[in-house]
Amino acid sequence: MKLPFKSFAFVLAFLFTSSVFAGEGMWLPQLLKALNEGDMQTMGMKMTAEDIYSVNKGSLKDAIVHFNGGCTSEIISAKGLLLTNHHCGYSQIQSHSTLEKNYLKDGFWAMNMKEELSNPGLTATMIARIDDVTEAVLKGVNDGMSPKERQAAIDINLEAVKNSTEVEKHQEVRIRPFYKGNQYYLFVTVTYTDVRLVGTPPESIGKFGSDTDNWVWPRHTGDFSIFRIYADKNNMPADYSEDNVPYTPKHFLPISLDGIEEGDFSMVFGFPGRTDQYLPSFAVEQIVDVLNPARIEVRDHALKIVGTAMRADEGVRLQYASKFARIANYWKKWIGEKQGLETTDGVGRKKRFEAEYLAAAKKYESNKRYKENQAPSTYLKQFEKLYKEIQPYALARDYHNEITGRNIEIMQVAGYHQRLVNTYKKSGEPAYTSFKGRLNNYLQGFYKNYQPAVDQKVFADLIQMYVEKMPFDEMASIMKDQMSAIGASDYNDFAAKLYQNSILTSQDMLMVLYNEEPDKAVEKLANDPLVKLSSALNDAYGEQVTPKLSGLQDQINELQRKYMKAIIELFPDRSFYPDANGTLRVTYGKINGYQPRDAVSYLPVTYLSGVVEKFVPGDYEFDVPKKLLELYEEKNYGEYADNGKMPVCFIGSNHTTGGNSGSPAIDAHGNLIGLNFDRVWEGTMSDINYDASICRNIMVDARYILFIIDKFAGADHLIKEMKLVHPKK
Ligand code: ARG
Ligand code: ASP
Repeated sequence: MKLPFKSFAFVLAFLFTSSVFAGEGMWLPQLLKALNEGDMQTMGMKMTAEDIYSVNKGSLKDAIVHFNGGCTSEIISAKGLLLTNHHCGYSQIQSHSTLEKNYLKDGFWAMNMKEELSNPGLTATMIARIDDVTEAVLKGVNDGMSPKERQAAIDINLEAVKNSTEVEKHQEVRIRPFYKGNQYYLFVTVTYTDVRLVGTPPESIGKFGSDTDNWVWPRHTGDFSIFRIYADKNNMPADYSEDNVPYTPKHFLPISLDGIEEGDFSMVFGFPGRTDQYLPSFAVEQIVDVLNPARIEVRDHALKIVGTAMRADEGVRLQYASKFARIANYWKKWIGEKQGLETTDGVGRKKRFEAEYLAAAKKYESNKRYKENQAPSTYLKQFEKLYKEIQPYALARDYHNEITGRNIEIMQVAGYHQRLVNTYKKSGEPAYTSFKGRLNNYLQGFYKNYQPAVDQKVFADLIQMYVEKMPFDEMASIMKDQMSAIGASDYNDFAAKLYQNSILTSQDMLMVLYNEEPDKAVEKLANDPLVKLSSALNDAYGEQVTPKLSGLQDQINELQRKYMKAIIELFPDRSFYPDANGTLRVTYGKINGYQPRDAVSYLPVTYLSGVVEKFVPGDYEFDVPKKLLELYEEKNYGEYADNGKMPVCFIGSNHTTGGNSGSPAIDAHGNLIGLNFDRVWEGTMSDINYDASICRNIMVDARYILFIIDKFAGADHLIKEMKLVHPKK
């Protein structure tokens, strides 16, 4: 297909005027005017696209902030007050917590600005403007190029576009591909680096229901925390300083006290991380039947061991809480994803679409000639072959990454020290010293939350799995060689010997080594048994897996780009939004319940009475603070109640994904009604195959947040900073 890009962009703009499924789609804010405004207004929105995204005046987008590059957050006061999820601020909250001052357990509220806690390294990024730079980025690029030639040409163009973009001081330029590399947008961003913790409820509210309720509706979690952005005297970014002042935003979100009803319009504005809506069926089958089960199995084992240790010791629990939650989160999501794809026949749906695609492609090609593998009707066959070929490599990648790159903690540290050794050997002392400095910073945080005894158990268990499950024998035999070299009788003994003999399991010993002469230190590190094991495994992986894996992945990516382009061109009457890629998006839908199973129907709102129903005194997931129970008994809800009841969470058909956590849920007028934090179990497959019947996002009701700040925490000085409104009255 040889449509020049201009007409491709035109086709896109044309198609997007109506959406097929209510709720589906992660739209680009700068294109709302052309593509979605009408649809949104029909669904009940009272704003214009210009109210949401404008480069000329303050608009909603100026209140939306990328929180530390992962989550979303929003500004809710004229003094830079920033709202995000409890789970997004978790590691900051944890970093200020000790057994004596346990903010995770008891919550924390700064009663004035002096008490707000600084978080070195934490960033808050805003978007100044978004430009289409497709033409400039794809200049001179053509279909005859190999993927490598294509990328090389694009890289040169990207540099040129970046360098020629005019920005103000403090602004940065980022360019990202959309539609699998068929389109490019440039983002001008501003990043603030003094972001302080203002308040958080205790975990028994902010993480109520913990891992049991995670990804589940009905939900009763008050998943929020509050920060504040600080700036220098000119309102510009500056690292922490006592002289910094609260940031004055171009726009902040007023908060609605009128709440929501089933059928109300809602939109979620944030930074969704990654979706894969346009994968071929073969890829979906592989993810669900082969790759996810492997990842689930690794995490099953790690979570059991770490969970047992956490329940036995409060200190270990504090150290591992954040790490455990992160591992458990996707472990559970993958399980739900498989189930959701099965109940909605996700693979079957993809296959039916592919049959349609094939018919349309054949028709389109009927009187044209193509070079080998260039005809769109051949793409699916090519995918099938490539995915078959890549499977063992992808499986090896997942086992290797999950086991040595994530779940055995010390293996990551060993990997870094292998790099440190190589740095010294290749680049000499100055490079070694600078790398060592950075590593040292990282290690201070690492050891604060590290228990070698727990990790040793994980090692013994997962290393066995590595040997047994790795599709390539080389890696297994390396392990066996090392075991016999060290005289280990079994995996437990192997683990015990390694953890005892390695310097990496002792921070004190490692720090002594850091002060030694570089050549001595390097020699010791190179002979450390864990560094040796890690480097042998990584080398074998690098030889056996990486070259083939990345070669195949490049081919798949290139094919996926052509497939995306063909889909858009072959179905000119359908709408296709670009996959999430960590850039700012708008999704919109309605507040509504759903039917998860035959004869079961879920209502869209939960109430505080439901928290009390789930209450299990002393339980690590379902305990409830005494104060909250008292407020419930007294019905002391102030102006935050809804007909005498205290709403907690609600759901809607807004299409969200990881990264949307902390995103504002916004009403028809642009007011905050809730805080997005999760999706429902049946619909976690929305990243691969959105299905409007069961995909719902979960939000905390803004009124519950206000109630907790005001009545529970007594931090009403924060409420006074906010703008509370009654849009329905
Ligand atoms: N599932 C939500 C998300 O993906 C919330 C995760 C945090 N909560 C937890 N219990 N791990 O981020
Ligand atoms: N909980 C997710 C997040 O942290 C949101 C989601 O996956 O729905 O971004």
